[in-house]
Amino acid sequence: MMPPRPSVLVTRRLPAAVLDQLRTTCDVDLHNESDALPREDLCARLEGKQGLVCMFNDPIDAGMIAAGDELRVIATVAVGYDNIDVGVATELGIPVSNTPGVLTDTTADLTWALLLSVSRNIVTGDEYMRGNNYKLWGPNLLLGEDTSPGGDGREKILGVVGFGRIGQAVTRRAMGFDMRVLAYDPYAREAIEADGQAEWADLDQLLTESDFVSIHTLLSNETRHLISTTEFEKMKPTAYILNAARGPIIDEAALVVALNEGEIAGAGLDVYEREPKMVQGLAECKNTVLLPHLGSASRGTRDKMATMAATNAIAMLQGDRAPNCVNADVYDSTAYAKRSGH
Ligand code: DGY
Repeated sequence: MMPPRPSVLVTRRLPAAVLDQLRTTCDVDLHNESDALPREDLCARLEGKQGLVCMFNDPIDAGMIAAGDELRVIATVAVGYDNIDVGVATELGIPVSNTPGVLTDTTADLTWALLLSVSRNIVTGDEYMRGNNYKLWGPNLLLGEDTSPGGDGREKILGVVGFGRIGQAVTRRAMGFDMRVLAYDPYAREAIEADGQAEWADLDQLLTESDFVSIHTLLSNETRHLISTTEFEKMKPTAYILNAARGPIIDEAALVVALNEGEIAGAGLDVYEREPKMVQGLAECKNTVLLPHLGSASRGTRDKMATMAATNAIAMLQGDRAPNCVNADVYDSTAYAKRSGH
């Protein structure tokens, strides 16, 4: 007798080709709406499912994982997996996978789009035109700051916090702007020193010297509110902060104070502490460019991410190791053997 086809819950609409890929081996229960599944519905629909394909903003916590009584795989369509309680998944013998690599350049490009937009008034200039305000060009119209050495001939400094794939890709781009890059990452000091493009700096030096501070760390207990009041006070009043990583790394209330009090010049944000909400006052700060989590939002990249998540899920449901498992030690556990029947 053929083993029953596994059943997979997919929490958001994915490209048709990817759903077809999943359907070759699984039954797919698709939440085909643009809104997120409420928690209780997600829990209810997880019952009896062997697979979960989720997004970075589905809170896959201990309670949720427990609701998936037959769950054998969690495949997120994202590189970041701070929304998943990987510790609990591992204890229960469930492999978890992510989608590293394919969104590195897309996210680095977006970081640069934020950097240039906020420092050179790109969005403000666009609003100015649409508001029919452009009557006469003048030498002081919407002046911003240089990224290249520019008028004062001084190399501008980019501070990269977190020297993983995306931090490195952002650094590479900075070379084209003749910038100096300081990088801080307590787990990558050797990589930074060997890099040849970035220079190692501790966080204090990076904050006090940089013209642009760009966040590229994972979100963890260690990095939550890594940038708060004290850190903003250390930054130059002419400096900008950029975040295309995870919102809670920056204390958003402290950011609003820093922006309003002129402790820093501006912020380019793609992520928020309580996404999709913004802290009160942020939307009113003029010296910001605010995007709705577009870091990996190119058609090609999103297709690749979805394909990768489906490939991971299928592999795990077929008893193979997921190519991008984040808790590979799970495969040696008795919990995994019991749950997967291998
Ligand atoms: C990720 O992959 O972690 C992004 O935040 C969503 O693309």
